[in-house]
Amino acid sequence: MRVAMVGAGYVGLVSGACFADFGHTVVCVDTAPEKIAALKAGRIPIYEPGLDALVAENVRQERLTFTTNLAEAVAGADAVFIAVGTPSRRGDGFADLTYVHQAARDIAAAVTGPTVVVTKSTVPVGTGDEVERIVREVRPGIAIAVASNPEFLREGAAISDFKRPDRIVIGADDPAAAAVVSELYRPLYLNHAPILVTSRRTAELTKYAANAFLATKITFINEIADLCEQVGADVQEVARGIGLDNRIGRKFLHAGPGYGGSCFPKDTLALVKTAQDAGSPVRLVETVVAVNDQRKRAMARKVVAACGGAVRGKRIAVLGLTFKPNTDDMREAPSLAIIAGLQDAGAAVVAYDPEGVEQARALLAGVDYAADPYACAQGAHALVIVTEWDAFRALDLRRLHGAMAEPVLVDLRNVYRPEDVRRHGFTYASIGRP
Ligand code: UDX
Ligand code: UDX
Repeated sequence: MRVAMVGAGYVGLVSGACFADFGHTVVCVDTAPEKIAALKAGRIPIYEPGLDALVAENVRQERLTFTTNLAEAVAGADAVFIAVGTPSRRGDGFADLTYVHQAARDIAAAVTGPTVVVTKSTVPVGTGDEVERIVREVRPGIAIAVASNPEFLREGAAISDFKRPDRIVIGADDPAAAAVVSELYRPLYLNHAPILVTSRRTAELTKYAANAFLATKITFINEIADLCEQVGADVQEVARGIGLDNRIGRKFLHAGPGYGGSCFPKDTLALVKTAQDAGSPVRLVETVVAVNDQRKRAMARKVVAACGGAVRGKRIAVLGLTFKPNTDDMREAPSLAIIAGLQDAGAAVVAYDPEGVEQARALLAGVDYAADPYACAQGAHALVIVTEWDAFRALDLRRLHGAMAEPVLVDLRNVYRPEDVRRHGFTYASIGRP
């Protein structure tokens, strides 16, 4: 089938490359000329494991192309996906739909025959109705169906999430449109990936409900971790003890410095706003948002406490800046709030991250960057693990101890075993463990 992917950002590029790999013919369109130029030259603008090889292979097979010319991409497409960004609107947290609406207008103006417009961007309930209104207004004479097909891709594992999904959700009020989108995913029938066909509004809400639930699960275990610290219990054992209950499940019970990223913070806020507007507030999610925001700052205070109550004039080394490993994405990363908190308390911060430094430079002021973890630890009064990159899991503790001015290790991801670290002479603080 022929697919146009409007928006060649994280979601659009991964989805486009995977559809091409299924055998479809895919054109990715983006308004940013430098992005398209880079893609045409074989450079991938984001860091996602395996994506460069997948893109290269499908470009070579001539199933995947890139353009800034939307009209050319949309003409003759069986399905046109909208995968442009939906940032939080400044001020009220509501998803900013400017780009989605503009894409709908441009697509409608460009279609040459009946097609299905599929929203992949995460959009508030009812956005599909508005997209439908726009396309009808622009092209009253052409049968353009509007469907919703939310993505559930984790950065760093996006390709396997796309190719081995737990489920595919297709929201379409028109059965013919649902059939077109299902057909795109047909290669996955072999893997028995469940395909759920729902109404458009149900699909839109399912995406927000999924992310809000996961954010709640993380926030729940984070608060239990704080309680563990107060009562002398171990959060990792609690998480295992509850996670083995199938009704609860083991995943997303890692206590840490709070969730970040391009989705959870934005989507929980947008759900809160949608629910308030609908007169049916989601108070649990409102609390999750507030608790998570406070937590990021509280982590800076935890570091200060581990340093004996003051960090003024001290050098604090931070390992890991991105919101999670295997990405260069710094959006809403806990490191941002933690570093700001440490700087406000008078510390000098030096940081190391395997992939995120370029993005971090744009968001952080007054931070020094080191070339590796040991250079980062050199002369530091505390070393803080903020993101659990694999490269930080087996550090040479003896060497670190030798490099540091004070042997204080604050492990916000519980990467190390307390007894191992203490055996090397460190003062050690972690999350929710005695
Ligand atoms: C996506 C979804 O859009 C968002 O709803 C979801 O919650 C997370 O993932 P993402 O792919 O991460 O967003 O966004 P981004 O990497 O910013 O990509 C958006 C792309 O769309 C950019 O390349 C941008 O240049 C492009 N774009 C934006 C257009 O092509 N046209 C526009 O009008 C606006
Ligand atoms: C998430 C969803 O998982 C995905 O389905 C959706 O489509 C987009 O949003 P992503 O933001 O890439 O994906 O990352 P994810 O792995 O879910 O992690 C989000 C944040 O939660 C990270 O900051 C991570 O460190 C944190 N987290 C995750 C925890 O603190 N503990 C956990 O147990 C799991």
